Amino acid sequence: MKFFIDTANLAQIKEAQDLGILDGVTTNPSLMAKEGISGKEAILNHYKTICEIVDGDISAEVLSTTYEEMIKEGDELAAIHPNIVVKIPMIKDGIKALKYFSNKGIKTNCTLIFSAGQALLAAKAGANYVSPFLGRLDDISVDGMNLIEEIRIIFDNYMFDTEILAASIRSPMHIINCAKIGADVITSPLDSILNLLNHPLTDKGLAQFVADAKKLS
Ligand code: E4P
Repeated sequence: MKFFIDTANLAQIKEAQDLGILDGVTTNPSLMAKEGISGKEAILNHYKTICEIVDGDISAEVLSTTYEEMIKEGDELAAIHPNIVVKIPMIKDGIKALKYFSNKGIKTNCTLIFSAGQALLAAKAGANYVSPFLGRLDDISVDGMNLIEEIRIIFDNYMFDTEILAASIRSPMHIINCAKIGADVITSPLDSILNLLNHPLTDKGLAQFVADAKKLS
């Protein structure tokens, strides 16, 4: 399973990269705004910097919502670096844009997936990734993990190459359950990734080893 970090924060991206387990980065307009990035030049430069830190797929989301604007914007984003994956919203014009980029050999990530039908359409249009939003479904009392399971079955039935990129991760348990179901990728905030490290018996055991190590010297 690939690990992506879901942020536009350069310090967090560097910290995850330094861990040695990072396969890519996802961003969205909200995450970019959180970092105070605005204006086309600043946005393109920020993506360029991320591509210099991480050698993996970097999802850069279009800001527009019409076919013509999305393909213009996506072409500009894809020109930044070969690792850029153009992130397209799950709307009718988005499906057309996915097909356009697929025909051009530019990688895409279809975002805002909340149903198996949406994932199927995106895969048919040639998306490289679909991003089902687990946490936002859980937030409205719908089991997000069921959606991952449904998409896994459908993609396996027809051997779609499209990868399931589980997004809107809120906890380490989301990551573990995605791994059990067979999501291809998780994209997560840094804290949920780091929380995978924690176990009280590890802390207790290490404290004992450190204490006993002193007796050996
Ligand atoms: C990633 O591609 C999504 O944009 C992101 O995971 C959404 O997460 P959120 O629901 O925590 O905003």
